[in-house]
Amino acid sequence: MFNFDYFNPTKILFGRDRLSELSCEIPSDGRIMLVYGQGSAVRSGLIDRIRDILGDRIVGEFFGIEANPRFNTLMEGVDRIDVCGADFLLAVGGGSVMDGTKFMALASQYEGDDLLSFLKSYSLGSCVETALPLGVVCTLPATGSEMNCGGVISHEDGKFYFSSPLVYPRFAFLDPTLTFTLPREQVANGVVDAFVHIIEGYVTKNVEARFQDRACEGLLRTLIEVGKKSMDNPEDYDARANLVWCSTMALNGMLAVGTPEDWRGHMLGHQLTASFGFDHGKSLAVVMPALWSVARDEKRAKILQFGERVFDIVGAASDEDETIDRIIDRLREFFESLEVKTSFSDYDMGQAEVEVILAGLAKYGQGDPSFNRCVLELAI
Ligand code: NZQ
Ligand code: ZN
Repeated sequence: MFNFDYFNPTKILFGRDRLSELSCEIPSDGRIMLVYGQGSAVRSGLIDRIRDILGDRIVGEFFGIEANPRFNTLMEGVDRIDVCGADFLLAVGGGSVMDGTKFMALASQYEGDDLLSFLKSYSLGSCVETALPLGVVCTLPATGSEMNCGGVISHEDGKFYFSSPLVYPRFAFLDPTLTFTLPREQVANGVVDAFVHIIEGYVTKNVEARFQDRACEGLLRTLIEVGKKSMDNPEDYDARANLVWCSTMALNGMLAVGTPEDWRGHMLGHQLTASFGFDHGKSLAVVMPALWSVARDEKRAKILQFGERVFDIVGAASDEDETIDRIIDRLREFFESLEVKTSFSDYDMGQAEVEVILAGLAKYGQGDPSFNRCVLELAI
């Protein structure tokens, strides 16, 4: 196991009927700006409930943040912070709203005019020295943004990751009942995203990190148990509660400590979204089976371990490649059991679209071009 530091300051308030405690989590003289998306939190009545709880401590609202939040939209939010004089941001929504709020918390404190170039060179976190404090009410189990310090912002034909310890949420309300209104498709996207967060940390190289491996395997098996169940029974509290907590644990930094990670699946998936508007979870389901097939030699031992401990697939030692093919087929079947497609052709896309994605990756210097090509062509 490698040396590591682990730090996570986000307070989790998990469970139903906790929202009234919002009042205690934000300073009593806090000047709060509420941040939300394109209407789901209004339609569910959540925004009204929060307005009732926080009263005139809310000095402004910024809403309309789109899925895969865009730089230009968020800069309007930064202007709103200045106008209303907020000193605390409360994000109410899924990964897009939470990431957008983190970005605004940083951008609102930055004086220079080169924010976009820092974002596009993946160095936003290092150019900003302060940030507004923020908290979240998470309505979509998927990204883990509620308990990590990262975010992903779109601009033109690119999607850019940033991270800064300044934007760990101070607190995260995780009430599974707030996710009951999610469309079936978004639940499926969330299961795939959380699953892939775990495997991008776990299916790399064996460094004898036994607790981390077992923790990953437990979470993966739990996601398999509750994923479809949660889609089919949206108000099954226990299934949803497990999905919510697994999604948070999948990317709060704890699982991957002391181990090598490989985020090439996300790098490729982000470009599918940037070029063709794929939902984040859907992009990963297209990329990951092909990526494992192409990277099978470097990931061999961990793919076999995953197959045995997560899918109960054990093959003959004499034919590892056949076993790996079965494991990859099962991975594909798992995503498809959630009604998420696993190849470009399922979306009526082919070589021409792959070329566009490759051009986007090359434009932003993402990854090894020949590896990218092998994976994306295999995903057709
Ligand atoms: O905008 P509203 O109206 O709220 O609707 C949203 C949106 O249309 C809707 N929704 C959210 N909660 C709901 C709901 N609808 C009904 N009931 C609810 N309770 O769901 C739609 C998708 O929301 P979005 O926030 O875009 O989805 P998700 O949580 O999957 O976030 C995706 C974004 O997070 C980034 C992705 O790249 C993408 O931009 N990620 C962030 C990460 C991080 N911060 O660590 C890691 C991830 O790998 C990921 O890259
Ligand atoms: Zn993800």
